[in-house]
Amino acid sequence: MKFATGFVAVLAAILASSYLVSAQSHNYFFGARVPYDSLVNQTTVIQTGSFLRVRSVNVDYPLKGQRGRNITAIYVYDRLGNGRGGFATITSGGIGKNFTRINLKSQRGNGLNFQVEVYGR
Ligand SMILES: *[C@@H]1O[C@H](CO)[C@@H](O)[C@H](O)[C@H]1NC(C)=O
Ligand SMILES: *[C@@H]1O[C@H](CO)[C@@H](O)[C@H](O)[C@H]1NC(C)=O
Ligand SMILES: *[C@@H]1O[C@H](CO)[C@@H](O)[C@H](O)[C@H]1NC(C)=O
Repeated sequence: MKFATGFVAVLAAILASSYLVSAQSHNYFFGARVPYDSLVNQTTVIQTGSFLRVRSVNVDYPLKGQRGRNITAIYVYDRLGNGRGGFATITSGGIGKNFTRINLKSQRGNGLNFQVEVYGR
């Protein structure tokens, strides 16, 4: 009996912690805003999930042929939530540079719904 209640408590703790992990949203914050910077590009990337597939999308700043501002912060907001959101990595340029490429990658079988904000000055 004592063993059984202990076991139930451990099981409940495991379920609670895995719930916390799966409820996480996959937001990413690179760099930090500074006085006099401004939003230089905002874009939303939405892709539906596909069975066993990983979706991968690159977001580039600035547009080809345009001059980029000095990047201070890149904020990536996961709008999918519930731990289903993907991953964001800066694959070139970035903070303190005047260009960047951000790779957005879904979890296998899941979609993407990211809002990307690039700040610069
Ligand atoms: C922002 O970046 C996206 C993705 O590169 C691009 O499609 C969009 O035209 C850009 N918007 C502006 C205002 O530069
Ligand atoms: C970035 O800055 C360098 C040095 O000022 C300049 O030569 C280059 O054209 C700039 N690139 C962009 C994309 O603005
Ligand atoms: C951007 O600003 C930082 C901090 O002032 C500086 O170190 C860096 O060289 C700048 N980069 C560009 C591309 O102007």
